Amino acid sequence: MCGIVAYMGNKDAYPIIIKGLQRLEYRGYDSAGVVLYDGQDVHLSKTKGKVEDLKNKAEASINTVGKLGLGHTRWATHGIPNDINSHPHYSNSGDLVIIHNGIIENYETLKKALQERGYVFESDTDTEVLVNLIEEVKKKEGVKLGKAVQIALNQVVGAYAIAVFDKTKPDEIVVAKLGSPLAIGIGEDEYFIASDASPFIEFTNNAVYLEDEEMAIVRRGKEIKLRKIKDDAIAYPTIQELQLNIEEIEKGGYDHFMLKEIYEQPRAIMDTYRGRLRTEQGIIKMAGIDQNLDKFLNANRIIIVACGTSWHAGLVAEYTFEDLARIPVEVEYASEFRYRNPVITENDVLIAISQSGETADTLAAIKMAKEKGAFVFGVCNVVGSSIARETHAGAYTHAGPEIGVASTKAFTTQITILTMIALKLAKEKGVFSESRFHEYLTELEAIPPKVEKALESNVLIEQIAEVYKDSANCLYLGRGYNFPVALEGALKLKEISYIHAEGYPAAEMKHGPIALIDDQMPVVVIATRKGHYEKVISNIQEIKSRHGKIIAVVFEGDEMVQALADHVIEVPETIEPLSPLLTTIPLQLLSYHIALMRGCNVDQPRNLAKSVTVE
Ligand code: G6P
Repeated sequence: MCGIVAYMGNKDAYPIIIKGLQRLEYRGYDSAGVVLYDGQDVHLSKTKGKVEDLKNKAEASINTVGKLGLGHTRWATHGIPNDINSHPHYSNSGDLVIIHNGIIENYETLKKALQERGYVFESDTDTEVLVNLIEEVKKKEGVKLGKAVQIALNQVVGAYAIAVFDKTKPDEIVVAKLGSPLAIGIGEDEYFIASDASPFIEFTNNAVYLEDEEMAIVRRGKEIKLRKIKDDAIAYPTIQELQLNIEEIEKGGYDHFMLKEIYEQPRAIMDTYRGRLRTEQGIIKMAGIDQNLDKFLNANRIIIVACGTSWHAGLVAEYTFEDLARIPVEVEYASEFRYRNPVITENDVLIAISQSGETADTLAAIKMAKEKGAFVFGVCNVVGSSIARETHAGAYTHAGPEIGVASTKAFTTQITILTMIALKLAKEKGVFSESRFHEYLTELEAIPPKVEKALESNVLIEQIAEVYKDSANCLYLGRGYNFPVALEGALKLKEISYIHAEGYPAAEMKHGPIALIDDQMPVVVIATRKGHYEKVISNIQEIKSRHGKIIAVVFEGDEMVQALADHVIEVPETIEPLSPLLTTIPLQLLSYHIALMRGCNVDQPRNLAKSVTVE
């Protein structure tokens, strides 16, 4: 949901900002802008389109020199994506300039009040209202920029990560955060401000992450000053050493981040269980669970909240927790859960799953559950993210940065960690014998090479993609542990290829989707030999009788489905609870190839964003 970058130092700001924006494009990519201060005046360029379009426009139309600048890549909330609505936005005097990630919910009221005072607005954005509110406060109260930002933000309802700068005082940038992420990179005589650390990772390993309701005044040649927005109390910055490295955020020879991330899964799954899975000793070590074991063992139930792909991982976890650990589980869309006055008690454990750790609805669901006394556990990928900080305890997936908007390795690593939690609880509860526990741990360790093997079907999948690339619809069916995989497969296809796709529990097909089946309809069926195999075969027969085209994902050596399906993709055999880690792989590759053949932007599908920090 919008990426922000700012630079102040001795280097040229423009290349740093452009590169930084390109790294933040996963957050939004419908328009972009940059403003630079050249020592005399400011120069602004903004455009509808990608950062590449901005680069072309800026280099042709403005002087791109300057040691201070702000940049923005947008995911539209208020106002369509066009040049005028793009950030940065000036105040009416032209002195102040702002970039903003978030939503000002009461912007209409504020706008009306400012209009009555003579302010005029060029754009439809809430951000232009905010910068003018700051200007109005600054003039009316006769205060400095930092104070004006603080007073203005106390009148604002909503979420923000902002950077504001005054061209008449060009040695400081004021930043503030509530609900949207903001990091300050500290270099030698230079500061970087960004939505995450990726824009400045090659320049410094030291960063301060602002907490919610904090603001900072970043001055050239001075130390950063942090304050609480509400009560003006001084806050003390904690400088963190970053673990991120540059290779992780580059494509590393792959054509797309999505493909790279699909191929990273064997390594990513291994990184998820590394140091935690101790098969020889027969234990799983996870600090967040070990320290709170009683909470899990005494829980009435586990409520899982998440959005998108993370919600699908939650559905897989519902099967593992109930099947293996015999703990009742409910899986909820965070956006519905938070608004439906759910019954939550102190004996509930809530697990929030989020790749980014920033999803607004998931964050709000966590806050609500905490208020009602539940114990809240986070499963996040991004270290130090808002959800990781807001939860009582948690476990990182350690998948490494996921940049492709369509989630891939985040999903399989979430399933890995959730399965480990279920196994650990199964053992602690005495549901699992030592030998069964050992068998599961051994099989989990065997998954990375099996994922490698599953990836070998890439060429076959590319051929299948060629056959179905022009389909208008696609159905995905699975049962048991592979029902959520069917949902995830369908989501991947619609997200990046714009083909309408639906995932269904195979047996539910006869209650509706079967009406859609004709000789034009590809149906992807996950039909592994473990779990309701014969029943899925009957479902395949039902599709065949109606001339549907069957693409089946099966375990190696399957003969029955081979005889029925139009196309068969094999994955290595494993135990049923771990099968989603393998059956997901061909579905990711299928959507990747189809999207590519349809000329779609695989890494940046239209209208989507990786990190959804608005509700
Ligand atoms: C967006 C992304 C999805 C992701 C979902 C939840 O919609 O495009 O890929 O699954 O948000 O994100 P989270 O970071 O909370 O897992």
